[in-house]
Amino acid sequence: MARAPKVLILNGPNLNMLGLREPHIYGHTTLADIESDCHKLAARLGLVTEFRQSNTEGTLVDWIQEARGTQDGLIINPAAYTHTSVAIMDALKAVALPAIEVHLSNVHQREEFRGHSYVSKVALGVICGFGSHGYLLALDAMARQLINEQEA
Ligand code: DQA
Repeated sequence: MARAPKVLILNGPNLNMLGLREPHIYGHTTLADIESDCHKLAARLGLVTEFRQSNTEGTLVDWIQEARGTQDGLIINPAAYTHTSVAIMDALKAVALPAIEVHLSNVHQREEFRGHSYVSKVALGVICGFGSHGYLLALDAMARQLINEQEA
């Protein structure tokens, strides 16, 4: 892979409300701030990033499918679909790209249903509890993963 690896960053339902939504849990950073920070770090790491959000499960599935052959890795905060979506898990399996799951909050400290993730079953790794910084940690981990693949 001589070109810069491409990473698609996907965000699920209600994450467009970040900054307004339950700031005691999710913080004051908006999704636009996170997007801008991700693009800046990606450029430093030598990655090309695309950043998207949808409130619709099918749209997220379509975007994951489209990533096959066009992207090298996926970072996903599936939000509430984490805990319910077999469709997103199956799509991630179908595209067989390295995927990192991110949550702003520490889902294991919250309601019991948030402790289960379908996406974790197929993710390379999971980052949760570090707020918006979790996206940057995921980008760093993805860069290492993709660069190791290049060198292998
Ligand atoms: C979340 C955690 C989910 O349980 C919740 O439904 C979200 C956000 C997080 O980033 O902490 O919408 O994915």
